[in-house]
Amino acid sequence: MRNTTSYTSEAFIIEGGRTLRGAIRVSGSKNASLPILMASLLTREVCSVEGVPHLLDTQTAFELLESLGARVEPDGERVLINPASVNNQKAPKEVVRRMRASVLVMGPLLARFGRAVVSMPGGCSIGVRSIDQHLKVFEKAGARIKIKHGYINLEVERIRPVEHTFEVITVTGTENALMFLSGCERRSILRNIALEPEVIDLVDVLRKMGVEIEIEDRTAIIKGSGELRGFSHRVIPDRIEAGTLMVAGFLTGGEVVLEDVRVEHLGNIIEKLREAGALVDILSLNSLRVKGGGNIEPLSISTAEYPGFPTDMQAQFMVLCSIAKGVSEIRENIFENRFQHAAELQRMGADIHVRDRLAIVRGVEKLSGAEVYSTDLRASASLVLAGLVAEGITLVKDIYHLDRGYERLEEKLRELGATIERLPQKDV
Ligand code: EPZ
Repeated sequence: MRNTTSYTSEAFIIEGGRTLRGAIRVSGSKNASLPILMASLLTREVCSVEGVPHLLDTQTAFELLESLGARVEPDGERVLINPASVNNQKAPKEVVRRMRASVLVMGPLLARFGRAVVSMPGGCSIGVRSIDQHLKVFEKAGARIKIKHGYINLEVERIRPVEHTFEVITVTGTENALMFLSGCERRSILRNIALEPEVIDLVDVLRKMGVEIEIEDRTAIIKGSGELRGFSHRVIPDRIEAGTLMVAGFLTGGEVVLEDVRVEHLGNIIEKLREAGALVDILSLNSLRVKGGGNIEPLSISTAEYPGFPTDMQAQFMVLCSIAKGVSEIRENIFENRFQHAAELQRMGADIHVRDRLAIVRGVEKLSGAEVYSTDLRASASLVLAGLVAEGITLVKDIYHLDRGYERLEEKLRELGATIERLPQKDV
């Protein structure tokens, strides 16, 4: 059993004003890795996953798989999962509280064992994040669901094929439904599905396992099988890490080359960066260059489901807007409380007015270094970006939020010329 990940409180100390230059390789996608790791529960055969980033969330996913009885063996750049020995279908609360994506075990456990017991994930700092859409698909296909003592108890004898339209476009809801229906040998139809690249990466894996899936617009037709095969797969690069590094290069007036990216997944981010005045050159299908140095133009941003502008990039772009030449508007349409970074940026001198889901950002000449606190994964990334351009020293505290979703971010930024160190919080 892996040692339980303990969140030691650490901080980043950043000296602003350095220009980022150089080439950096982007890690594998966290949000593709998580559902793909859980998909291994659908089979008894060994699964090999390459490119899984080394993060708190992926470590938690390994712990969860082991707590269900699977064997997880890191093997260099890949991880081997042997799910034959899975003998437990209960995801404990201490794991689910740490990582809400643990709810992704519901679909595969129901498909393979007809049973799953998962602690209700509860809310998080960016919103209520209910999972009603996940449960509706299970219920429609014949699952019995009881919620008691904070746990969801799910049971199903035989999964009935469904024709289901999601009321809300949900990434993990789509992923849970696809894995669940992989256990049904008759054809189902899912409408209004999410089309994020991470969902499509899971579809590629399910097809390798023997599931027939056709996707047209936001409709998926899926025909599962009783016996699914193991798989070998390399996860796609992390488009949000890529976007975050692109913003860092432009923000600091530098020149950054990203390698191992999938340019086709970055369209909406590239468009917005160009609108803000960045020079973005596509060097190949898997590499691009971002150049800054000129003015940062104000933007109008409205987050949307893929292929729209990603909510996971909203906080990072708010930093760009905070030193743009003019007034920007940012509308957050996906989560109801995803502006917590605004208050921390204001401590650094940003001029931001938030009302409900709209933030008005008036560009200022300069941000100034301050002691700021991370509240969620992408908010903490925005505070690091702000520290890179702020005058003086910035302390970003509680960076375990950042470690959940970024692999060695401070090392990557240092390789590009940033002055950034990780310290135990008690020493700062
Ligand atoms: C996934 O979360 C990502 N996480 C999030 O990334 C990302 O921000 C989000 O999709 C949106 O793109 C993973 O993939 C592990 P949703 P998810 O279900 O699936 C509402 C990060 O930074 N909703 O698409 O939980 C929900 O409240 C993380 O890496 C329901 O109402 O998001 C939200 O308002 C943060 N009922 C909206 O839909 C449901 O049953 C979109 O949520 C499900 C969702």
